[in-house]
Amino acid sequence: MLIELQPLTPVFAAEVNGVDLVSGLNDELFAAIRRAFEEYSILVFRDQPMDDDQQIAFSKRFGRLETTVISNPAGGTPFARQSNIDINTGELISPDDRRMAYQKGNMLWHADSTFKETASLCSILTAREVPPEGGATEFASTRAAFEVLDGVRGAEIEKLIVEHSVLYSRSTIGFTFTEEEAAQTPPVAHPLVRTNPVTGRKSVMIGAHASHIVGWPVDRGRALLKELLELATQPKHQYRHEWTTDDLVIWDNRATLHRATAYDTSRFRRLMQRTTVADVAA
Ligand code: OGA
Ligand code: MN
Repeated sequence: MLIELQPLTPVFAAEVNGVDLVSGLNDELFAAIRRAFEEYSILVFRDQPMDDDQQIAFSKRFGRLETTVISNPAGGTPFARQSNIDINTGELISPDDRRMAYQKGNMLWHADSTFKETASLCSILTAREVPPEGGATEFASTRAAFEVLDGVRGAEIEKLIVEHSVLYSRSTIGFTFTEEEAAQTPPVAHPLVRTNPVTGRKSVMIGAHASHIVGWPVDRGRALLKELLELATQPKHQYRHEWTTDDLVIWDNRATLHRATAYDTSRFRRLMQRTTVADVAA
């Protein structure tokens, strides 16, 4: 076997040992990682001290990289920066700064970029600076959520279309966008159920940006989305990652949700760099 896989829960997520992603991979090794990604949805690698260029090179093996929306502190670059460190001065950002308010949205269960016309295949997050306590990331399986539905229910929801909007998700925590930011992210529609083209397994595309079901009364749609969220996030469908500096985690945005957890942003430094790979347009 090319890579050593250690499952982290009975449902999804695995730690991958014995690979060095930093110095580059041959095609055979990458193919093994890609297969494991389709199978496990979340892959954890330890001790991968990457700089930005190395992270971009590795991420591009999965596909085209997204450019981040302007409301993120690293907007306009291939990186989304999850951090309380000012990108220019290196000093801590005040907890009441708008940039910190925006990042609070990460504490809602979500998949990245479901609010974009072309959603995301996966995100790759590297831990550059980690607080001594707090700041773990929690993951949930939207594949397990679909798979616990009975066949009739599954077939019913497969017909549904969901409207996703980042303006909606941020509005639920009281964050408002400028006109320029809002114009960049009009609402988009995606099927509720998606099928992994490699494994054939189905998952539900839900999370904070999922606003309502197209053609349904808003309340009824939100009740269904909430029910599916509860199925996805029950404890047996979760994995919690406690970060160590130089960890790299890849998650499948088609099959998982995630959320940030709190840390003391006024005392501890945290810098996580995310690259986001776009899905292949259907
Ligand atoms: C992200 C994200 C959570 C965290 O990078 O997309 O939601 O714990 N991160 O930083
Ligand atoms: Mn995220």
